[in-house]
Amino acid sequence: MILFKKKRDIQEFIAGYHQKNQQVGFVPTMGALHQGHLQLLQAARRHSDLTVCSIFVNPTQFNDKKDLEKYPRTIEKDLELLEHQGCDVVFYPEVEEIYPEGTGQGSPYDLGELEFILEGRYRPGHFQGVADVVSRLFDCVRPDQVFFGQKDLQQCSVIAHLIATTPDFRHIRMHQVPTLREASGLAMSSRNARLTPEQLQAAPAIYHTLLHLKEHLVPGDLTGLLQQAAERLAHAGFRTDYVTIAETDTLKECTRWDGQTPVSGLIAAYLGEVRLIDNMPLN
Ligand code: PAF
Repeated sequence: MILFKKKRDIQEFIAGYHQKNQQVGFVPTMGALHQGHLQLLQAARRHSDLTVCSIFVNPTQFNDKKDLEKYPRTIEKDLELLEHQGCDVVFYPEVEEIYPEGTGQGSPYDLGELEFILEGRYRPGHFQGVADVVSRLFDCVRPDQVFFGQKDLQQCSVIAHLIATTPDFRHIRMHQVPTLREASGLAMSSRNARLTPEQLQAAPAIYHTLLHLKEHLVPGDLTGLLQQAAERLAHAGFRTDYVTIAETDTLKECTRWDGQTPVSGLIAAYLGEVRLIDNMPLN
């Protein structure tokens, strides 16, 4: 496994693979790797000749400074895991390498409504930060195939939009990999490392609430069902940002369901200071 810290070095290395018409698969991460990330890596290995993973805790996507400071950083363990999984290349740049002109200088991306709904409503600027860093990382790695986890469903839509609307990225094929869960149902996430043992016991209530939505979804008004879901989360000790049902394709929230449109349940909620998100297709 080769480790690069400089943009120019990784670009030169990858150019050699493109000259040989080899497929470059890319898994961008913020580190604190878990089985969910490793599943993305395995998918990348299946679809590409060269597997690249980046580890970069991107400051511009954190609207809450404390959240950025507390984000788990486990670089040595991450590198061991990647080596063990057969990752070929790791890109581990400093902030100055990705943002030579400083953070906060990027020009805004047109992400349409996606920027402002659901996560966007509670984390203003978050998706601008994600779009900015992902396009900078794509520019460093020049991937053919990219791999993102469905746990961040709205992020997947943002990246799909970025790829579709950026001429330099249009050739990139995006793979959305299903969410990996603990035996308890809790979606794997780097943030789970910040949960206390008691909070870890309570956290699977998010998954069970999504299952409740799935099992009780019927055509018509959704208000009562969503009220039950909110009560379940409150009962388990969550402070809920949102629990909602949205069209899977557009992520537009629904107050009624026609019995046909594909819809997903989406939840963002705090246990103590830790904010967890999850989602599930409901039909
Ligand atoms: O999903 C993540 O870990 C991050 O949002 C990403 C895509 C690596 C961008 O920083």
